[in-house]
Amino acid sequence: MKISTSILSVENDYIKNAIDKLNNTDTDYIHLDIMDGIFVPNENWSYEFLKERLVDNKKPLDVHLMVSDVKKYIDLFSNFNPVFITFHYEAISEVGSVTNYIKSKNIKVGLAIKPATDVSEIVDYLPYVDLALVMSVEPGKGGQTFIENSVNKIEDLYKIRENQGYNYLIEVDGGINSETIKGCSKVDIAVAGKYVTSNDYQDALNNLKK
Ligand code: DX5
Ligand code: ZN
Repeated sequence: MKISTSILSVENDYIKNAIDKLNNTDTDYIHLDIMDGIFVPNENWSYEFLKERLVDNKKPLDVHLMVSDVKKYIDLFSNFNPVFITFHYEAISEVGSVTNYIKSKNIKVGLAIKPATDVSEIVDYLPYVDLALVMSVEPGKGGQTFIENSVNKIEDLYKIRENQGYNYLIEVDGGINSETIKGCSKVDIAVAGKYVTSNDYQDALNNLKK
């Protein structure tokens, strides 16, 4: 299992420091949570803010768009050459065309579902995406408690992939720590925010990768 470290809970003044520190750990990705104040209540970093702070970054990026105007943010954040751009199923109606749009930029496509959205709602899109993201907290802020029902959704995605021969990766995001990760053994990538960034980064990553 790979770990994607979210820097959402890091104070703005320390974002550059956190990115630099993560570059000296074995985190597999840096997870960038982008919030617009519309799809979720809070708004955070602008593209320019992050661009200045990513200058020395060598880690692969995993962009999670918690936004309504998905295309606008894809155009901006594709400039970072991320491995993945993940958007929310609940944000738009044109899931298919946005999927193709991200692919046309040679970036892997992730489709995310909020805790109240069932896997059955996105099943038609699963053949076409590279990653399915199960939100295990309500999107919008770090440091929340893992919602146990997320484990069932991970199992559903795992079974569908096996039965249909699909290729998407399964990612879980929210409330991941050394205990909650135990129920998520079927995911390919676990996102961890506060558990990593409020502890010694490498120690926390070691605990998650055990
Ligand atoms: C929640 C974000 C997550 C989250 C992860 O809206 O998408 O990436 O901040 O942070 P923790 O691990 O602190 O829940
Ligand atoms: Zn996220």
